[in-house]
Amino acid sequence: MLTELRLFFILPDIFYSRVPCYLYSLSGCQLTVVITSEFPMSIALIIPDRKLDDLCQQLQHALPDTRIEIWPELNEPADVEFAVVWKQPFGCLNGLVNLKAIQCFGAGVDAILADPTLPDLPVSRIVDPALTEAMVRYLDGVVSYYRLQLDVFSRQQQQALWRPKSPRKLRQLTILGLGELGSAAARHFTQRGYQVSGWARSAKSLPGVQCFAGDEQLSPAVAAADVIICLLPLTPATDNRLGQHFFQLLKPGAIFINVARGAIVDETALLLALQHGPLAAACLDVFRQEPLPADSPLWQQPALLITPHVSAVTNVSSVVSQIAENYRRSQQGLNLINPVNRVKGY
Ligand SMILES: NC(=O)c1ccc[n+]([C@@H]2O[C@H](COP(=O)([O-])OP(=O)(O)OC[C@H]3O[C@@H](n4cnc5c(N)ncnc54)[C@H](OP(=O)(O)O)[C@@H]3O)[C@@H](O)[C@H]2O)c1
Repeated sequence: MLTELRLFFILPDIFYSRVPCYLYSLSGCQLTVVITSEFPMSIALIIPDRKLDDLCQQLQHALPDTRIEIWPELNEPADVEFAVVWKQPFGCLNGLVNLKAIQCFGAGVDAILADPTLPDLPVSRIVDPALTEAMVRYLDGVVSYYRLQLDVFSRQQQQALWRPKSPRKLRQLTILGLGELGSAAARHFTQRGYQVSGWARSAKSLPGVQCFAGDEQLSPAVAAADVIICLLPLTPATDNRLGQHFFQLLKPGAIFINVARGAIVDETALLLALQHGPLAAACLDVFRQEPLPADSPLWQQPALLITPHVSAVTNVSSVVSQIAENYRRSQQGLNLINPVNRVKGY
């Protein structure tokens, strides 16, 4: 049902300043008449291959005086001052000559920063308690799955084998990356009674967590771990970082979980570590190529649990307010919230 109708009258400056003016009530439908000397500047949603009606509607509601447009159907590219972006085709931001800021529609900005022609503008990302909670729940479920040996029972079921087993003794857990998601996961598993270690670029102090930092401390961070969870961002420093050398650092029977980005892991080295040790099992939610091609050998590895990049998906309702806030800030020349350090790459 139509609940709101917004009309823009564009008149020369000489008659009117750019101010929203009148509200009329029309049989339950709110009619807003905006008299303006120009088209309002716009926000472009540049998120290919995704239905954007919901995001568009909710953002319009949060920013009633701003035009929200869905790329590539832009009325006038020069009107775009703010872009909400996810996996944009390289170069597509270059025609937006009045762009002031780039808002990533997710937590990881690797796909945005990979664009060699990306304009030199502030970039922000999503940091959302609902997204963090989703990730922690996913990880809790996967760790429980392995603790209860459900991977083993699932394989036994395929052979009609009735072989009871006690839960695995998973005590030591290491989290690679102690940012928004990694530190929340560390807190959660510490509270659940696990001995938690974490590894980051810079030194950290988290209650109950043994923290390691820098390349030289990766080995002690993971050496005793029963479960290793990857929550690193994909950057030039982490690209293919977890390969043969990394898997050799792990103890026999370790379980590896990657919920960050597929390209951080050398998938061939992972397969070898599953076939010949030290890994007992692995769970991957992210892959170098997504969707994972049907002919990928990863599908055939029985000790590998595959989920299709579902561990923590951006929820439109819970992120609209921070996108709107960043738009307002960019209009006022203020620093964005949840900024990305473009030099570090995350
Ligand atoms: N699968 C999904 O659905 C999903 C959903 C959301 C996010 N993600 C992925 O999860 C990643 C992490 O998210 P986040 O919000 O927790 O990121 P974040 O807040 O930026 O934290 C990143 C952490 O990684 C550490 N780090 C970065 N580079 C490193 C390096 N070279 N060596 C060691 N540690 C390094 C950082 O160390 P410092 O603290 O010292 O800087 C920081 O602790 C995202 O980048 C995204 O790719 C996946």
